Amino acid sequence: MNQNPSEKQKQAAAEAAINYIENGDIVGVGTGSTANYFIDNLAKIKGRIDGAVASSDASAARLSRHGIEVMDLNNAGPLRVYVDGADEATRHMHLIKGGGGALTREKIVAEASEKFVCIADHSKLVGRLGSFPLPVEVIPMARSMVARALTRLGGQPQLRTGFSTDNGNIILDVHHLDILNPVEMEQQINQIPGVVTVGLFARRGADILLIGGQSGVETLS
Ligand code: A5P
Repeated sequence: MNQNPSEKQKQAAAEAAINYIENGDIVGVGTGSTANYFIDNLAKIKGRIDGAVASSDASAARLSRHGIEVMDLNNAGPLRVYVDGADEATRHMHLIKGGGGALTREKIVAEASEKFVCIADHSKLVGRLGSFPLPVEVIPMARSMVARALTRLGGQPQLRTGFSTDNGNIILDVHHLDILNPVEMEQQINQIPGVVTVGLFARRGADILLIGGQSGVETLS
């Protein structure tokens, strides 16, 4: 199959993440096209793992199709490792996630995991976060109020139309935010009543970044 370069890089990063899986793991699994490549690779070693916890209904369905047992996080307990993609990543291990709308469950599974291995193609590596519109999951009745608060922070929120999260909420994609201090901005946005989750993963960023590039996979930690 002919793949474009970034698909090949995603695939290479996903394959490299398999090295972080140990026998008997219950693996935390993210969402998106890169995470899908990881799931397909995980299927090849499914006999070595005890199951997976999924960060979205879509990933749960893909894991099940591969015959990998999907477990409830409440029953799985703390996880050793979580593998997921990102929309943007910095060398400080800060991320923007939520392009696929699964940010809340992604943040929950990341928090429950000892090690977060982030996999991405080279285009996702940036000097400063914010060119990718920042996804914010919001309780529907708070939409306008939260949008006004995000505007006061300097962003331009746009409702993701025709989209509802796995949790039944809406997403505001915030354009043109100046994210100079990702940890501080994550805190500020999380404090707005009605915000369920902001797609900034800075307070708990990645522990390992596997970046697929033209000449192989670069490991940052
Ligand atoms: C899903 O909500 C997102 O956080 C994804 O992990 C992120 O958007 C990366 O997606 P791709 O791997 O499809 O680029």
